[in-house]
Amino acid sequence: MKGKTIGVISIKGGVGKTTLVSNLGAALANKFKKKVLLVDGNVTAPNLGLHLGVVDAKHSLHDVLYDNTNISQAIQKTEHGFDLLTSSLAPTKEQKKSINPYKLHNRLSQVKELYDFIVIDSSPNLNDEMLSTMIASDELLVVTGPDYPTLSCTMQAVKTAKEKKTPIAGLVLNKVRNKKFELSVNDIENATGVPVLSVIRDNVKVLEALSSTKPAVLYSARNKASLAYIELAGKITGEKPPIRKSLSRVKKVFGIS
Ligand SMILES: Nc1ncnc2c1ncn2[C@@H]1O[C@H](COP(=O)(O)OP(=O)(O)O)[C@@H](O)[C@H]1O
Ligand SMILES: [Mg+2]
Repeated sequence: MKGKTIGVISIKGGVGKTTLVSNLGAALANKFKKKVLLVDGNVTAPNLGLHLGVVDAKHSLHDVLYDNTNISQAIQKTEHGFDLLTSSLAPTKEQKKSINPYKLHNRLSQVKELYDFIVIDSSPNLNDEMLSTMIASDELLVVTGPDYPTLSCTMQAVKTAKEKKTPIAGLVLNKVRNKKFELSVNDIENATGVPVLSVIRDNVKVLEALSSTKPAVLYSARNKASLAYIELAGKITGEKPPIRKSLSRVKKVFGIS
């Protein structure tokens, strides 16, 4: 299917949605050579552009949704290998009014054919903004953490997605430290009834990457968090993660392909 749209949601801030969107985009584009568009669907508190060092967009998603700017004019190429549609950090008064949640779906459908994957960063607020992401998405990734308060928000997000009939591809369990007091994958799968697709370690490289406005996958591809993002991208494409060049040379020497 051309242009699969994946919404990244959680009903909690700070769990790692925007980080996942930027790293999934980087992995899909650079490691799997897919054509990727990332969209900041968090229109009231956008920060995908800030994660990626893009703050000077001429047009934003706000212009597309509120002022009928052509979506192609608002999409920009980035140095990270994917295209980006940011939301405005300084919307006008008119652009702060609530919006028909079907509009994002409608506008993205105009460019869907141009991409292998469109990934939407959602607002954590259970309102029309998150609904926009759900309606525009073919499937959802729900970001969660290994603690009870986050799990309770995740259960609510899963329930809402089911009510809206948007399929959930799986959970992404983020910021794991492998401590005894943390909830396990089993605990989380049992409580939500949804499989955990990926477990991502709490890793300081992710924070270092943020401070240099690069996805961790591009800043330092060998740390455990980056490897997990790449592995998740592989699950999404259905392709094997790429083998490092040095490893593939060694395999060739031994006649293993
Ligand atoms: N796996 C991780 N390891 C360490 N820090 C992380 C990880 N994932 C996210 N973070 C950090 O957590 C903070 C919140 O992440 P963010 O993606 O902005 O969350 P959200 O979009 O859900 O509000 C950021 O400082 C980010 O760098
Ligand atoms: Mg965010």
